[in-house]
Amino acid sequence: MSAKYEATVTAPVNIAVIKYWGKRDSALILPTNSSLSVTLSQDHLSTRTTIRASPDFGKDRLWLNGVEEDIAASKRLINSITTARNLRAALEQKLLSEGAPAETVVPLSKWSLHVCSENNFPTAAGLASSASGYAALVKALGVLFDLPQSTSDLSRVARVGSGSACRSMFGGFVAWQAGVSDDGHDSFAVQVADRQHWPELQALILVASDKKKAISSTAGMQTTVETSELFAERVRSVVPKRMEAMQRAIAERDFGTFAEITMRDSNQFHAVCLDTYPPISYMNDISRSIVSLVHAFNAARGRVAAAYTYDAGPNAVIYALKDDMRDLVELVTYCFPRDDSTLLEAFYPNSFAIFDSADQVG
Ligand code: DP6
Repeated sequence: MSAKYEATVTAPVNIAVIKYWGKRDSALILPTNSSLSVTLSQDHLSTRTTIRASPDFGKDRLWLNGVEEDIAASKRLINSITTARNLRAALEQKLLSEGAPAETVVPLSKWSLHVCSENNFPTAAGLASSASGYAALVKALGVLFDLPQSTSDLSRVARVGSGSACRSMFGGFVAWQAGVSDDGHDSFAVQVADRQHWPELQALILVASDKKKAISSTAGMQTTVETSELFAERVRSVVPKRMEAMQRAIAERDFGTFAEITMRDSNQFHAVCLDTYPPISYMNDISRSIVSLVHAFNAARGRVAAAYTYDAGPNAVIYALKDDMRDLVELVTYCFPRDDSTLLEAFYPNSFAIFDSADQVG
C-alpha cells in the first residue's frame, strides 16, 4: 500500500484593532497601510482544513463545509496553492541537488490535491471566514509540503489569498507590516506579543445580523481607495501613529489606551466608508446602539473599560478585561434580551468567544 500524504490543521479568526482597508496592489494583495489584530480562540471560531496529495488525483479539488467549490473560479485560491507548490518544487530541487536519493524526495509539487475545509461557526454570520480559511489552507500546505519557511514567510502566501489571512497565521497580537516594495517581499505578518502576555483580555462577539454583507470587503475597499479623500489622510497621518501607540499599549498592557485606539480606529474606518462615493454603510441600528451602550458602560465606570470594533458588517466585537467582561455580558443580555422579538435573531447562542490561547497556532 502506498504512503498517505495528508495534513490537517486549524486556523483561528482574527479581529483587527487597527483596520486594513485599501490595496496598493490588488493582484498581490499589498495594503495601503499596516494593521494590527487580536487572534481569537480556536474553540469558538476557526477553520479546520485537511489536504491530501496523490499522484492518482486527476486535478485539484476543494470542498467547503461539505460542498464542492470550483477552484478554477477563484484566482486567489489558485495563487495561494501555486505559490506554496513553487516553494515545494524549490525544496525538492534543493534536496536532489544536495544529493538526496531520488526515491526519498516525494514529488508532491507535481501531485494534485484534495482540500477539505470546515468552519466551526456559521459562515452566514458574516464573521471573518476568509481569514481563517486561507490561513488554514496555507498552514496545511506548509505541513504537507514540509516547507522550511518561517510563519512570517508563509504569511505572505496566506496574504495572496486574503489580506487579513496573513494575520491568522499567528496567535496573540499580530501586526501586518504593509511594506513598501512592489513585489510584496516586505508585506507580511509578525507576532507582537503572544496571548500569555495579556491573559485577562477577552473578546465578546455580538451578532447583530446573520445576513451576508451587501458589499464585500474586497470591492468596498477598492471604491474607497478610488473615491475617498478622508482615506488618504488616514493612511498618511493617522495609521502610522496608531500602529506605534497600539504596540506600546499592548506591551504595557494599558487597556485604556488599547480600547480608545480600537474604538477610534473602528469609527474612522466606518467614517471612511461613508466618505466613499457612493457611500458604504456596514453598521445597522443594533450596531449603533451597542456603540452607545459601550460608551454608557465606560461613563458609568469612570474609565474606558470596554471597546467595540466593527469590520465590514454590523456585528460587534467587544474587548474588555475579564472582570469588566462579566458585568458587560450581564448588561448586554439585559439590554438585548434574546426573546425580544425585534432582536430574536440578533445573537447567536455561542457568541461569546474568549480570547485565545494558542501562541503559535497549529
Ligand atoms: C474590515 O482581508 O477580507 O476586516 O484582502 O480583499 O480579501 P481581501 O480583504 P479582507 O479585508 C478585511 C477588512 C476588515 C479589516 C481587517 O480585518 O483589518
